[in-house]
This record gives sequence, C-alpha cells and structure tokens, in this order.
Amino acid sequence: MEPRTSQDTAKVVSGTAAIDAYVSDGMIIGLGSGTTSHWFVRKLGEAVAGGLDVIGVPTSTGTRDLALEVGVPLTTLEDVEHLDVTIDGADEIDGDGAMIKGGGACLLWERIVADASRRMVAVVDESKVVETLGAFPLPIEIVPFSWESTRRSVAALLERLGYRNPDLPLRMNGHEPVVTDSGNYLIDAHLQRILDPVALDGQLNWIPGVVENGLFTGIADEMVIGRADGTHEIR
Ligand code: 5RP
Repeated sequence: MEPRTSQDTAKVVSGTAAIDAYVSDGMIIGLGSGTTSHWFVRKLGEAVAGGLDVIGVPTSTGTRDLALEVGVPLTTLEDVEHLDVTIDGADEIDGDGAMIKGGGACLLWERIVADASRRMVAVVDESKVVETLGAFPLPIEIVPFSWESTRRSVAALLERLGYRNPDLPLRMNGHEPVVTDSGNYLIDAHLQRILDPVALDGQLNWIPGVVENGLFTGIADEMVIGRADGTHEIR
C-alpha cells in the first residue's frame, strides 16, 4: 500500500521515524490504532520481514488484524507485564503532550496499553499539533445500559465547568450506535476549547457510566511530527 495524499506521506514519515528512533531488537511494543499507527504497523511489518525481532500488543481489533496481515508477531497483556514502548497516533496534541484520542473509537484499549508501557510516543502529522485542545470533539466511552443518563451527567458536569450547551451526539454508524471493541458506546463532546485538560480528564472519569475519555494527559513522553516534505521533528 502506498500513501496517496500529502497527509498520508506525513503519517508514513512519522511512523517510519518512530521505528528508527524508538524500536530495537527484543522489544515489546504497543501498537496504536488509526491511520498513522497503521502506517507505522505496516513499516514495522517490513522491518520484521527484514529480521527485526519484536513482538506487539495491539490496541484494537483493527490493529490486531493488520499486524497479523503484515507479519508482526503479537502477544497480549495477559502474557506480558510491561511493554517497552507504545507508539500511537492522536487527533490533537498540544505543546505539553496532552492529547485528544479516540477518533477511531479505540481510546480504552489505547489508554490501557499506554499505561502498561514504560514509554509512550505519539506519532502525528503536523496538522494534529495545536495550541489548545478541543476543536476536535472529545470522545467519551460510556456503557450502553445507562447511555442517556450518563450523557445527562456529562452535560451537567460540563455546564458546571462553564461549557455552554455543548453538543454531545452519540456516535452513530448509519442508524446504529458505534460499538467499541469493549462493547460500549461513544459520545463526542464538542467543546471547542479545553482550558484545563488534566482536570477535565479526571472529572469525566468519575461519572458513573463513563468508562474512559479521550483526554490523554501526562501519557505521551515524546511526539514525532511528520511533514509532507519528508522531514520530521521529535519533541
Ligand atoms: C483511535 C485514535 C487514533 O490514534 C486517532 O484517532 C488518530 O487517528 P489518525 O492517525 O487516523 O488521524 O485515537 O482511537
């Protein structure tokens, strides 16, 4: 598979640079989800075919299927205690490394795998780097049993925090709610500007029925920013 757009090229550059900078023989690697991570996984498959000896833990069923297709050997969190590094994309990332994730509906497994890793590296194209998080709607994973009342609780929290009537649509696939790999639903919170991501991350996860939210604060150790001209920057 070849990159077709300049953004694809930037994503490939980022994923390839992450392999060069952070991956070596013997490592256990968290494999992120989304298009940028999938370029990384394809490149990792090529490196494995060339003799690189690594094993991966996927962060979604989609990434698991791709890794198997391109020949990256896999293990699970049941069989390993720690991962050396997780390499994963982001929908937005700010100067402190705080991210919005979950555009691909994989935030829960992504956060768990990152948490089990000694290091987390975000791979992004330059369009993902922002000054203030929030233009990208914040994904919030909720249990189906209580989705309407949990959404009301999320709305009440946001109102208390000063977000005025944010749109909180349930993520749909046609006429059906999107169902995550853990069997949950998602709401996408249109907040525009998130001024205190660390506080909001904790407050959202206290709401009964919220399983996880896409604000990943204090998780990324470094970011690899790929550009369409083939260059990259590590921060
Ligand atoms: C999936 C994610 C992805 O990492 C995020 O959506 C970025 O995806 P892409 O690389 O396709 O822009 O969090 O849940």
